[in-house]
Amino acid sequence: MTDRSFAARHIGTSTADQDAMLKAVGQPSLDALMDACMPALIRSHDGLNLPAAITETEAQAELAALAAQNTPARSMIGLGYYGTHTPAVIRRNVLENPSWYTAYTPYQAEISQGRLEALLNFQTMCADLTGLPVAGASLLDEATAAAEAMLLARRAAKRSAGNVFAVDRRVLPQTLAVLKTRAEPVGIDLAVADLTDPAAIPDGAFGVLLQYPGADGTIHDWTPTVEAAHAAGALVAVAADLLALTLLTAPGDVGADIAVGSTQRFGMPMGFGGPHAGYMAVRDSLQRQLPGRLVGVSRDAADAPALRLALQAREQHIRREKATSNICTAQVLPAVMAASYAVWHGPEGLRGIAEHAARAAARLAASLEHAGTTLAGGAFFDTVTAHVPGRADTVTARAAAAGVNLHRVDADTVTIACDETTTDADLRAVCDAFDAPLADAAPIRIPVDLRRETPYLTHPVFTAHHSETAMMRYLKRLADKDYGLDRGMIPLGSCTMKLNAAAEMEPVTWPEFADVHPLAPADQTRGWQTLIDQLETWLAEVCGYAAVSVQPNAGSQGELAGLLAIRAWQHARGETDRDLCLIPASAHGTNAASAVLAGMRVVVVACDDDGNVDLADLDAKIARHADRLAAIMVTYPSTHGVYEATIVEVCAKVHDAGGQVYVDGANLNALLGWAKPGRFGADVSHLNLHKTFCIPHGGGGPGVGPVAVAEHLVPFLPSDPMSDEAGPVGPVSQARWGSAGILQIPWMYLRMMGAEGVTAATASAVLAANYTAARLRDHYPVLYAGAHGLVAHECILDLRELTKTSGVTVEDVAKRLIDYGFHAPTMSFPVAGTLMVEPTESEDLAELDRFCEAMIAIRAEIDAVASGAVAVEASALRAAPHTAAVATADRWDRAYTRTEAAWPAGVAAAKYWPPVGRIDNAWGDRNLACTCPPIEAFGE
Ligand SMILES: Cc1ncc(COP(=O)(O)O)c(C=O)c1O
Repeated sequence: MTDRSFAARHIGTSTADQDAMLKAVGQPSLDALMDACMPALIRSHDGLNLPAAITETEAQAELAALAAQNTPARSMIGLGYYGTHTPAVIRRNVLENPSWYTAYTPYQAEISQGRLEALLNFQTMCADLTGLPVAGASLLDEATAAAEAMLLARRAAKRSAGNVFAVDRRVLPQTLAVLKTRAEPVGIDLAVADLTDPAAIPDGAFGVLLQYPGADGTIHDWTPTVEAAHAAGALVAVAADLLALTLLTAPGDVGADIAVGSTQRFGMPMGFGGPHAGYMAVRDSLQRQLPGRLVGVSRDAADAPALRLALQAREQHIRREKATSNICTAQVLPAVMAASYAVWHGPEGLRGIAEHAARAAARLAASLEHAGTTLAGGAFFDTVTAHVPGRADTVTARAAAAGVNLHRVDADTVTIACDETTTDADLRAVCDAFDAPLADAAPIRIPVDLRRETPYLTHPVFTAHHSETAMMRYLKRLADKDYGLDRGMIPLGSCTMKLNAAAEMEPVTWPEFADVHPLAPADQTRGWQTLIDQLETWLAEVCGYAAVSVQPNAGSQGELAGLLAIRAWQHARGETDRDLCLIPASAHGTNAASAVLAGMRVVVVACDDDGNVDLADLDAKIARHADRLAAIMVTYPSTHGVYEATIVEVCAKVHDAGGQVYVDGANLNALLGWAKPGRFGADVSHLNLHKTFCIPHGGGGPGVGPVAVAEHLVPFLPSDPMSDEAGPVGPVSQARWGSAGILQIPWMYLRMMGAEGVTAATASAVLAANYTAARLRDHYPVLYAGAHGLVAHECILDLRELTKTSGVTVEDVAKRLIDYGFHAPTMSFPVAGTLMVEPTESEDLAELDRFCEAMIAIRAEIDAVASGAVAVEASALRAAPHTAAVATADRWDRAYTRTEAAWPAGVAAAKYWPPVGRIDNAWGDRNLACTCPPIEAFGE
């Protein structure tokens, strides 16, 4: 590692800094530190078999050579993926802008008003277009959103309803494949039927899923089916294309209860499958059942409107064994892009784009019909299905030779999807493949009674920013409200907010990667396949497993995939009764939620006073449930931030009882290069590439949560959702490689860091956490520590005693940190009343010190309250954060000075001003409003 290597730029601390930090920690060297804190039993000494690190320039050149092996053709495949023009103003100002992509999920709402406003636009857009009043702030993709709709329908349906979820046969094939994966473990029967006939709704249906338009492009008036479903006590979900809904009657207007879908074609490139924002909208009475996050309007301390995540108590839908959904990381950045696309184009613009696609499809249909080709159905939006008995292969091959990909449904059927990007030349090439002359323009094929009459996107935000100057300034205004890694450290424990290097990010928008449909022919996607093969091989190597699948598009989905693999393996060896998953009390909420969704019962294992798995309780639970034990799910290092010395023993005990060991690899940033879960006893893990491997958090997604397995579980990895061979488990995402479109980021990271770089990064992250703990220990007790009083890559500061003596809460400290120019550490997880700090390896010593000094200064403020010098209600802590308006108001009658309020010691010249004061969450939940309020409400 030289000073000019990428690793030296990725790791924030210099050798000299590290020497000083080691001294503070009382360790002679990084190796000694790792020896002291990491149990010898888990250490792997065989190094990492990764290609040697290369420079940024060399890595980009190597990746460009892979990109050149992709030869993207014009895609008219459709099936949920369409060509779209990403407006340059959005690509440059959102997708390529660290202010947007480095932000965290907006838990600290006061410093997240920009992305919360963009998400509110997203919710308003989805609600307006679907005709349903409440929409969430994004789901992972259309297929998993449909699975969530299925589960929601079952929760909300009458108790007397049966166990059947009825799916129309026109549903997208990948949606059906994911529904099959998700239905079986939780005991739901799927019934596929032609639901244009209301009588085809099977007995015992608690819910119905309709596709609008169907996978074959056809559109139907679903009113009779909806009425019949409701009469039978079933809820109706409609998987709807939002662009089509600018022209078609909204699902809400035909009585649907739920709408789901993808917003990909709102400016987000296909990216070989993802990431794209899925959406869900529901009728009012279902709003408290929504999975995922919901942005709501509330007010701040000065009574000004302010946004925040609504129903946060319910947001613990990841409520351990009572969970109804495991969605945590979702698709915030793609949702922001989709909403911005709607802001940029406005209702008229969107309608124009939809009409362009519909007119192209109508012209194509007329051309094919004139030439004697039979089409499926007379009514459609943008997709035409042609019957070409025995000729589907010839037609698709001829189109491909002319540079256009069509979808071969079977030997006799081809579908052709038009979109925003379709040109006359594309239509001509398709017609040539069918030996049909291109006809003149033809009227669109949406019957009058299916045409939309209701307005949408009437809020001023969708018409106010149509000049590029206005749009650029709007996006800048929003970004300026937020705190991302481009402003300073985000020391969120369990979140690994490390550098997302520009060289890693740039290839995401290279067209050879971005403009590829996941079903493009294999000979056009060789570069993608090599990239994914290499990345899966490298990831398997670094965590010591036999194989990896990058399909899961969040950590939660990796968990589900891993647990489904365990379940299928247990079943395959005849152990069908093994349905119980042990989970330590300290686990992340998604763990238990995923176990429930995998059809397992959760039994919680206690933690001892040091935060470790309580071995006596583990023994007792194993003894009590031995015959039913399927798995244990442990996080390593634990969510308490320590390397538990007993992990090998824990694994052995579970194996001896016939269970499998799932190690949650979200904390891999503490292991990489030093220990491999697949070697110290685990059978399966998921990794969060949006933590350890530098995919930015995006304000709450996208993520990638690969599942990694030992040899015996390889046959149970997720299968291809587009393939007829389902595999024993089935797919967990709608695309074979999930959110492939961002895999360039971890590829670049590993290629530039090499074995030496990632190993150094881990040690540097551990050093940064221990340095922080050492500096703050005298001011705040560090809750847990392992051998020699050392922590792993994060540390928990215990404020409970201080709260008792002073009344100052963790929330007060978190909000006060905003005044000091920081994003708060993780609040009250995994222990209520504490702050968990994870500095990562990317912060430099000056920033670490600035944080420690802020925390020390805040401790002095707490002491002033505790001593009675200042009442807690009158303190700067309770009034934090302080806005510019408060600090500069004409009146000042507080117990502290304006300088103390807004310029406490150490605040840099580039002061971050929160746009709102402390937000009243309870008021917002009592007065729930989850779409854009009238613009006057913001006083702008
Ligand atoms: C320990 C742990 N496990 C699992 C997850 C879930 O990952 P995701 O948010 O990508 O679904 C997280 C997320 O923060 C985590 O910290």
